[in-house]
Amino acid sequence: MRYSIGLSTFLLAVVCTVAIGQEPFGKTKDGESVEIYTLKSSKGLVAKIMTRGATLVQLHVPDKDGNSADVINGFDSVTGYESEDNQYFGCTTGRVCNRIAKGKFTLDGKEHTLAINNEPNHLHGGSERSLDKVIWKARPFSNERGSGVRFSYTSPDGEEGYPGKLDVTVVFSVPKDANRLLISYRATTDKATPVNLTNHAYFNLAGAGSDTVLDHALRLNADKYTPTDDTLIPTGKIESVEGTPVDFRKATRIGKRIDSLTETAALGYDHNFVLNKPEGDAKLNFAASLFDRGSRRRLRISTTEPGIQFYSGNFLKGQKGKDGKIYAHRAALCLETQHFPDSVNQQEFPSTILKPGETYRSMTQYAFSVQPVKK
Ligand code: BGC
Repeated sequence: MRYSIGLSTFLLAVVCTVAIGQEPFGKTKDGESVEIYTLKSSKGLVAKIMTRGATLVQLHVPDKDGNSADVINGFDSVTGYESEDNQYFGCTTGRVCNRIAKGKFTLDGKEHTLAINNEPNHLHGGSERSLDKVIWKARPFSNERGSGVRFSYTSPDGEEGYPGKLDVTVVFSVPKDANRLLISYRATTDKATPVNLTNHAYFNLAGAGSDTVLDHALRLNADKYTPTDDTLIPTGKIESVEGTPVDFRKATRIGKRIDSLTETAALGYDHNFVLNKPEGDAKLNFAASLFDRGSRRRLRISTTEPGIQFYSGNFLKGQKGKDGKIYAHRAALCLETQHFPDSVNQQEFPSTILKPGETYRSMTQYAFSVQPVKK
């Protein structure tokens, strides 16, 4: 009896181990090896994630006819990700995603100075050793529910100007029988420090490299947003979306009102929305739904985060990506679940400060489906 349990557990482990692909993806310019892992669901979702930046490199999902397409921007090589053409495609973004005004904040009476990599502000955790640029350790796992990869990285005290040694883990997992990707983040620190992690995938549900996303319909579970100044730093106010071009409470074509924002600093949509959710609720809450009529693919995003940045790819510049595909202006969009931008300088926003002894936790789920044509 003992023997047979041992054998079946062993066989299960073998079956599970082969279910997760692991391959070399290339080397960084400093000669470090980068690995890429493949997760699959039985319903056709295929996700590939690499150890540089714990980055989502490919995400294939079926359309109405069962044909799969890769729906996110990216590159075929590590060199592509290291190039100027990479605008945070698919990466884990941090230590603090989005902007920190003038790259400065004061914590416990001490002023901290960060890289100004998006004049005049700090963006997405810095310029040299932000979380998207470092090599993470990876550990694949699988069980009866599905498979995943646990990425971990220890950011030393002072890296990119942030205080404290930060231990971060990001787990990507795919359930066995559903087209869902779950990303779970955790972090601990030995000194008080701001933390705000997200994934920066650029989606085009018609397949990455297809025209624009202006015909996608977007719904956001947000009655309010955080208006910004000309450098995209929140003014501190929280305002209603009612009567503005950022009202996505009902599913609306992205192109419908975007022209009224072209002359703004954002050049289109680049706004943080305050998600409607019960105070203190730690469960996944509905945040956004994105739909492409041609393929009938739908993406539904749920998160534990209080905010989501909707960025309509206004700074995409026609760079060449995977399979030679061109990523033109507004050819993809980001929906970045997060705490609000510049929270570290905004007393009224939910805090992003992590203290020793606490654990930062965040979760976001991307659920794909195909919407049948209404008869
Ligand atoms: C920001 C954009 C920025 C982009 C860079 C987004 O998260 O909101 O303003 O240009 O990241 O890739």
